[in-house]
Amino acid sequence: MSTMAGRFLTIEGIEGVGKSTQVARLSAKLNERGITHVVTREPGGTPLAERIREIVLNSRDEVLPPTAELLLMFAARAVHMTNHVEPNLRDGRWVLCDRFIDATYAYQGGGRRLRVDDIRQLEAMVLGARRPDLTVLLDAPVEQALQRARQRNAGAAADRFESERAEFFERVRDAYHARAAAEPNRMVVVDATLPVDQVASRIFKLLEARSWIS
Ligand SMILES: Nc1ncnc2c1ncn2[C@@H]1O[C@H](COP(=O)(O)OP(=O)(O)O)[C@@H](O)[C@H]1O
Ligand SMILES: [Mg+2]
Repeated sequence: MSTMAGRFLTIEGIEGVGKSTQVARLSAKLNERGITHVVTREPGGTPLAERIREIVLNSRDEVLPPTAELLLMFAARAVHMTNHVEPNLRDGRWVLCDRFIDATYAYQGGGRRLRVDDIRQLEAMVLGARRPDLTVLLDAPVEQALQRARQRNAGAAADRFESERAEFFERVRDAYHARAAAEPNRMVVVDATLPVDQVASRIFKLLEARSWIS
């Protein structure tokens, strides 16, 4: 086991930009290099947090107020951080996470228009000083991304977010861009309209540029 703390990488973007595809690609690359890591996602990542995910994504019979959605996201995050992310980082494993804190600012802040100050307070409560070492924002026009997501789903029922209209995702995308502009060192925008291989190699170059891999 390594004595060095692991790296914490998050991948962000609206539905269909290619997050899951790129997390899998990056994981395969890290395996080739012998870098021990775990792949996880938010909301979710542990059995309990996945149960919260199910509530957030698929509650249908009763309205889930935006405030409850926000609190559930952070409840899931608190579970995920304590039971999975922090222990793995401590043991020297890298953590690749499909969506994280920026998604809350983008979806619950931008999309649902909840107060950013409230999100900041919850962030401080749940994350303390922990932030990703690097966040990749996969970016593509809303229509293109949603089209991909629809093709992927092929008949499967849309979840509570996937059922939102294009304007919702435009707000989400704008909020993601604002996050990236405010923290350009941590959060890097990658053009997700490129072919899968090119997106993957751009992401890999970001790690090389930081000398995390060679
Ligand atoms: N760069 C790309 N170009 C074209 N299609 C892509 C690209 N990346 C992913 N896809 C396809 O788009 C769909 C959504 O990708 P996925 O990785 O599931 O997105 P996300 O996890 O961001 O919702 C999948 O069918 C995937 O194969
Ligand atoms: Mg995905």
